[in-house]
Amino acid sequence: MLQLEFFPRTELKSLLDFQRLGSSQLPLSDRKRLANSVEFYQSPKANDIIRRQHADLVDKILGLRLRYIEEMLVAEAQGFEPEGPHETWGPSIHSGIQTWVGLDLQTLQTPYSECLRIVQLLRLRPYQHVIDLGAAYGRMGIVIGGLYPKNSFQGYEYVQARVDEGNRIYSELGFSRCHLDQQDLFDPAFALPDADIYFIYDYGQVEHIDRNLRQLEAIACKRPVKVVVRGKFTKQIIADRHAWLQLKYEGRLEEFFSVYTAYNA
Ligand SMILES: C[S@@+](CC[C@H](N)C(=O)[O-])C[C@H]1O[C@@H](n2cnc3c(N)ncnc32)[C@H](O)[C@@H]1O
Repeated sequence: MLQLEFFPRTELKSLLDFQRLGSSQLPLSDRKRLANSVEFYQSPKANDIIRRQHADLVDKILGLRLRYIEEMLVAEAQGFEPEGPHETWGPSIHSGIQTWVGLDLQTLQTPYSECLRIVQLLRLRPYQHVIDLGAAYGRMGIVIGGLYPKNSFQGYEYVQARVDEGNRIYSELGFSRCHLDQQDLFDPAFALPDADIYFIYDYGQVEHIDRNLRQLEAIACKRPVKVVVRGKFTKQIIADRHAWLQLKYEGRLEEFFSVYTAYNA
């Protein structure tokens, strides 16, 4: 039971509880309290439809303006290709990069409940650093900022508007160790920084992911790393070309992620 200013004795057991919170604009103190509680990131049910609805409501409660930003991106892309298909909208306005403009927001991003499951499974130790390659609005950073204040999170994302919105929410919630950077991960000048954990959810073309995995291999020679992978493309690239990564955990039932470590870890 959470004590909020607006809703004293708040329970987070059903989607209706989340809907009630999402129907009013909560004061910042209440949003901070929610962001700092584990129950907030737990989906009331484990199936994928409810997890997505829950994630949508969490975005709404925290005040993320995702729909508006994505609609602006779609409108911009429709100036070039009015009819789509949506697969070409992102590349048409972002120098050929697949930024998934027009994709359903809950498909674009990992549900909060899965971000929570991942960080709990990893048993984050204080001060470990997490990097998300292709972070969109930085959901993983919200879970880390809210629940693991001693850890740091860095997300790289090509779309500036997503970066700005994610950083706006981090700064509102006081997540000083979480940050998103605008970055093309395929830029030849980009050197992947060291981290303890890397998160990859199918962010781009095969060559992009493959190149970043090669950079990661070099880092894994110097220090232990864990790589969390969501999405079938990246898992296939690892299976085909990156034998140095060993599968340590394979998601069960509705979990769509796998965890790898370097073979020498
Ligand atoms: C499938 S989404 C995953 C978002 C986030 N990691 C999550 O799981 O919630 C992939 C993101 O990668 C971004 N992306 C694609 N290619 C990129 C590139 N070359 N550099 C940086 N970001 C890129 C896309 O714009 C998109 O927001």
